[in-house]
Amino acid sequence: MKKILVTGGAGYIGSHTTNALIENGFEVVIIDDLSTGFECLLHPKAKFYRGCVTDAETTASILTKENIDGVIHFAAKIVVPESISQPLNYYNNNTVGVIRTLEACKKAGVKKFVFSSTAAVYGNGSNALVNESTPTAPLNPYGFSKLMSEQLIKDVEVEFGLKSVILRYFNVAGASQSKKYGQITKNASHLIKIACEAAVGKRSEMFITGDDYNTPDGTGVRDYIHVEDLADAHVAALNYLMAGGDSQTLNCGYGHGASVKEVINTIKKVSGVDFKVSIGPRRVGDADSIVSDNTKIKKILNWNPKRDNLELICRSAYEWEKELNL
Ligand SMILES: NC(=O)c1ccc[n+]([C@@H]2O[C@H](COP(=O)([O-])OP(=O)(O)OC[C@H]3O[C@@H](n4cnc5c(N)ncnc54)[C@H](O)[C@@H]3O)[C@@H](O)[C@H]2O)c1
Repeated sequence: MKKILVTGGAGYIGSHTTNALIENGFEVVIIDDLSTGFECLLHPKAKFYRGCVTDAETTASILTKENIDGVIHFAAKIVVPESISQPLNYYNNNTVGVIRTLEACKKAGVKKFVFSSTAAVYGNGSNALVNESTPTAPLNPYGFSKLMSEQLIKDVEVEFGLKSVILRYFNVAGASQSKKYGQITKNASHLIKIACEAAVGKRSEMFITGDDYNTPDGTGVRDYIHVEDLADAHVAALNYLMAGGDSQTLNCGYGHGASVKEVINTIKKVSGVDFKVSIGPRRVGDADSIVSDNTKIKKILNWNPKRDNLELICRSAYEWEKELNL
C-alpha cells in the first residue's frame, strides 16, 4: 500500500482528496498548521501532524519516519486580495513553503510530487480556452507565488530526479456527496461559497464585483469544477507517477465556463431563495474570462470527470452550507 503525505489536508480540497486517496487504497499522512484548515475536516483514517511546511526539518522527519512514497502539496494561502496587501506573507507561505517541502523531499529521497497550482498563472485568459502552452502572466502575488513554485518543482527534477504533476485548477466548488466534507473557509472570496452564504441567510446581501467585463453579460466567466472530480484527478496523477510517468503540467477544469450572473441564478434556483444581489466595483486582479482547455489531462491521466454539471455543484455547496454551523 502506497503512503502519501498530504500537506494542507485539513483544508477544503485537501480533505476531499484525502478521502478519495483512502477510498482508492492509499494510506495518508497529513501535515497542516490549521491556519485556514479545520480539525473537523481531518479524515479519521489519516494520521495528522500539526506543523508548518516552511519548516523543512519537520517535513523531512515525517517523510522518513512514515516511509512516504509521494507528496501532494496543497498547503498555501489562497485569497487573491490578501496576497496583494500581504505579498511577503504569500511568497513566504506559498513559494518558500514549496522550497522547504522540496528540500525535505530531497533529504528523504521522495521523488513523486503532485502540486496544487492554479488558473491564476494565466492572468487574463482572454475569451478563448487556455491550454498549458498559453503564456503565463499572473495578475497578482498569489498567481506569481504559484508560478514561481511551478518553476522550482520543474527545476529540481535535474537536481534529484523529482517527477511531478502540476495541476492547474480552475474554480473549485461544491461539496462531497457524503456531506462529510465541504468548504468552511472563513471570509471566503469564492463566488459559490458567498452566494450559498447569502442563500442560507449568513449574509444579508452579496455583491457582483463588476459587470463591465469583456464577456457576454458583463460579469466574469470562470470554469467551475466539482471538488470531488478534482480529488479524483489527484488520485489519477499519483497513479500515473507511481507507474513511472514523466513530469507534466495539466489544466484541471471542465472546458466550459459560467458567468457570475449564471452562477448566482443557479444558486437561487437550487435554494429557492431570492437573496439580494447588488453590483459593486471590480476587484483588483480579476480577469474577464478564464476557461480551460482540458484535452491534455484527459489524455494523459485518463481523467473522466463525473460531476460536470453546474446545478449539481451549486446544490452540493448549498446543502453543505445549510448544515454548516461554523
Ligand atoms: N479553492 C480553489 O478554488 C483553488 C483554485 C486553485 C488552486 N487552489 C489551490 O489548492 C490548494 C488548497 O486550497 P483550498 O481551497 O483547499 O484552501 P484551504 O485554505 O481550505 O486549504 C489550505 C490548507 O493548507 C493549510 N496551510 C496553509 N499554509 C500552511 C503551512 N504553511 N503549513 C501547513 N499547512 C498550511 C491550511 O491550514 C489549510 O488546511 C491551495 O494550494 C490553493 O492555492 C485552490
